[in-house]
Amino acid sequence: MKYRALGRTGWKVSEISFGAWAIGGFWGHVSDEDAMNTLHKAIDSGVNFIDTADVYGDGRSERLIARLKRERKDEIVVATKAGRRLPKQTVEGYSRQNLTTWINDSLRNLETNALDLLQLHCPPTDPYYHPEIFGMLDDLVKEGKVRYYGVSVERVEEALKATEFPKVQSVQIIFNCFRQRPAELFFQQAKQKEVGILARVPLASGMLSGKLKPDSTFPDDDHRKFNRHGEMFDMGETFSGVDYKVGLEAVEEIRRLLPPGASMSQFALRWVLMFDAVSCAIPGGKRPEQVADNCRASDLAPLSAETMAAIERIYDEKIRSQVHQRW
Ligand SMILES: NC(=O)c1ccc[n+]([C@@H]2O[C@H](COP(=O)([O-])OP(=O)(O)OC[C@H]3O[C@@H](n4cnc5c(N)ncnc54)[C@H](OP(=O)(O)O)[C@@H]3O)[C@@H](O)[C@H]2O)c1
Repeated sequence: MKYRALGRTGWKVSEISFGAWAIGGFWGHVSDEDAMNTLHKAIDSGVNFIDTADVYGDGRSERLIARLKRERKDEIVVATKAGRRLPKQTVEGYSRQNLTTWINDSLRNLETNALDLLQLHCPPTDPYYHPEIFGMLDDLVKEGKVRYYGVSVERVEEALKATEFPKVQSVQIIFNCFRQRPAELFFQQAKQKEVGILARVPLASGMLSGKLKPDSTFPDDDHRKFNRHGEMFDMGETFSGVDYKVGLEAVEEIRRLLPPGASMSQFALRWVLMFDAVSCAIPGGKRPEQVADNCRASDLAPLSAETMAAIERIYDEKIRSQVHQRW
């Protein structure tokens, strides 16, 4: 496993880290035993950074991570998120009282006195035009409840706007072979301002692992069944917003580029790591084998210029029109 700097925090995070949404909920049933084995495998594989949120399984994901920290001596940095408990996303919802309540809940779930990294959880665009919200985050840092803060965003424009706030350490954004726009302008600005980037949904919700078929089915409580058109949350979070059939066609074209010995997941993650502005990819996982597979991406040789150009061609021909100007 290789490690990269995250913003100006001084942390060196594993370039393949772990996304703990699926072990919380909305991805079909995952037992506590599978979740714990998966988390332990991540640490055994060199992962030292975990992304979670207060709403993943209504605190379940955070509580499992607290248990992991009790069971391991290793240094583990935990990034959590707040904001999605609001019944309706408004600027007023990001009040001092709400932020404090959410953060206190996360502190309790994570069994800690200070959150390592707190991220606003995909607020709409308007809060970015209310600097007082970021001022409240500064106050929470001063109070010692939060060490550092960042944001998780849906849109590139929100990512760019977030970098204007000097204490924002990280931006989490969807970045994968099917979502290439962040690399255009945002990565340049993030590097210049030393803002860390967490590349989320790096496997396009598992699609880029190459295992899904046109007739694959998903449990009722899996967002890949119920959110393909944004029925519950932003449709970009499910298969990166790409139509299922078109996505599978593009995956078959990507498969032809696979270097010998690499799995499709490793290849997709290595593509993400080709961008040095990225601090880490945070693939999710429900079983230890998936995490072991994903972590090996850090050992793959860099992809050739020809391979990168071929992936860009596939994106331009099949995917770009569906996503490029939408997020
Ligand atoms: N709004 C936000 O801030 C937000 C939104 C989304 C995600 N995130 C964060 O980003 C993380 C990653 O995104 P994601 O989990 O949505 O999507 P992802 O990482 O693209 O896909 C993860 C899923 O792919 C499958 N998978 C993983 N490794 C695999 C492998 N090696 N082989 C085959 N299948 C594999 C697993 O599901 P199956 O086994 O069921 O196929 C796993 O749950 C999340 O866990 C979360 O921490 C944040």
